[in-house]
Amino acid sequence: MNDAQVSAAEMDAGDPLRFFRDRFHFPEGSDPIYFTGNSLGLMPKKAREYVDQELDDWSRLAVEGHIHAKNPWLPYHEFLTEPMARVVGALPSETVVMNALTVNLHLLLVSFYRPTTERHKIVIERGAFPSDHYAVESQIRFHGFDPAASLVELTPREGESNLRTDDIVAAIERDGPSIALVLLGGVNYYTGQAFEMETITEAGHKVGAVVGFDLAHAAGNLELRMHDWNVDFACWCSYKYLNGGPGAVGGVFVHERHATSFDLPRFAGWWGNNKQTRFLMGPNFECLPGAEGWQLSNPPILQMAALRASLEIFEEAGMPALRKKSERLTGYLESLINEIQGAPIEIITPQDPAQRGCQLSIRVKDPKSGLLDKLATRGVFADWREPDVIRVAPTPLYNSFSDVHRFAEILKECLA
Ligand SMILES: Cc1ncc(COP(=O)(O)O)c(C=O)c1O
Repeated sequence: MNDAQVSAAEMDAGDPLRFFRDRFHFPEGSDPIYFTGNSLGLMPKKAREYVDQELDDWSRLAVEGHIHAKNPWLPYHEFLTEPMARVVGALPSETVVMNALTVNLHLLLVSFYRPTTERHKIVIERGAFPSDHYAVESQIRFHGFDPAASLVELTPREGESNLRTDDIVAAIERDGPSIALVLLGGVNYYTGQAFEMETITEAGHKVGAVVGFDLAHAAGNLELRMHDWNVDFACWCSYKYLNGGPGAVGGVFVHERHATSFDLPRFAGWWGNNKQTRFLMGPNFECLPGAEGWQLSNPPILQMAALRASLEIFEEAGMPALRKKSERLTGYLESLINEIQGAPIEIITPQDPAQRGCQLSIRVKDPKSGLLDKLATRGVFADWREPDVIRVAPTPLYNSFSDVHRFAEILKECLA
């Protein structure tokens, strides 16, 4: 018997992670189906308590809270470091939680994109998230180069939606000596394709390039091994699968082999300075080793408090168990969608579970059919990405097999 034949309720009953659903607030409405955790994750119920703790300490202690708060604010970001490192498969010294994603991407490009006349190209995927595209184009221009010559966009083969790993590797080999940096999404936001990061990193390094990843759609979604895969750097946001709340603080990974590369160009700030001498207020920047050395400002405590509540749930559930459920959940969704006979839709996300995370991207053959609105009026939270894709992402922490089954029934009804 395969998953499609076992009833959704039975699969839920046998799901060891089913209790986590109760740890989250669902949006108002009668029994909504929340499939937009790839955009904004649900609020952990504990987030309010954790934020309240910091508000209470602020009201009681004011400036003294930096040292005497229950969770002292001066080292507050450190409470997040280890759980976040585990989420992305990094050493704690390689990980820091700070800023927002695009800001971090720029800070890392300052250090890791150092073009020369021979080696100036950046390889990205065509259809990369716009902010990444803007960031790399502006960095290329900032260094006096022209994106027309220095930006290489990887394009799927004619008639295909996804990039083949062999083609990515071949493109890197072809342009090898002129590539300064390979920068891909861990999971493409539009197609849901997960890239083979280890293979791509190896190919990039073989031609002498630096390799980085935007893990916005991968962190908290895939089992990642940033350290073992030898990736140079990565950055991600925490408001999607990591449920850190709107505008949540982002994360940064810098491989330990760069931990003491103090000669790298970098934009410095006082939070990246030696903790022992930071408050001596001297003019000479003494860079911290590891990812912390890229910090600029003192941390946003209220945002970090909310993220902390969520990361504790990840600690408890563990990425291996989450990923195991996620593969079944998304596989079940795929099989039910594919059963809908003659539907004017097509899943463009790869079929191979190793090449995708939670998300399925459904291409709608008639984009004017109003399918998303029809789903929304029936309580489904999904989203639309131009020109013709509906994204649905059942997440293993708070979605159930019954959610998937109900979604498929509603989809069938909307398409009828
Ligand atoms: C893949 C990807 N990159 C970059 C961003 C931009 O993130 P931020 O607004 O935190 O800079 C997003 C936002 O959704 C994203 O999905």
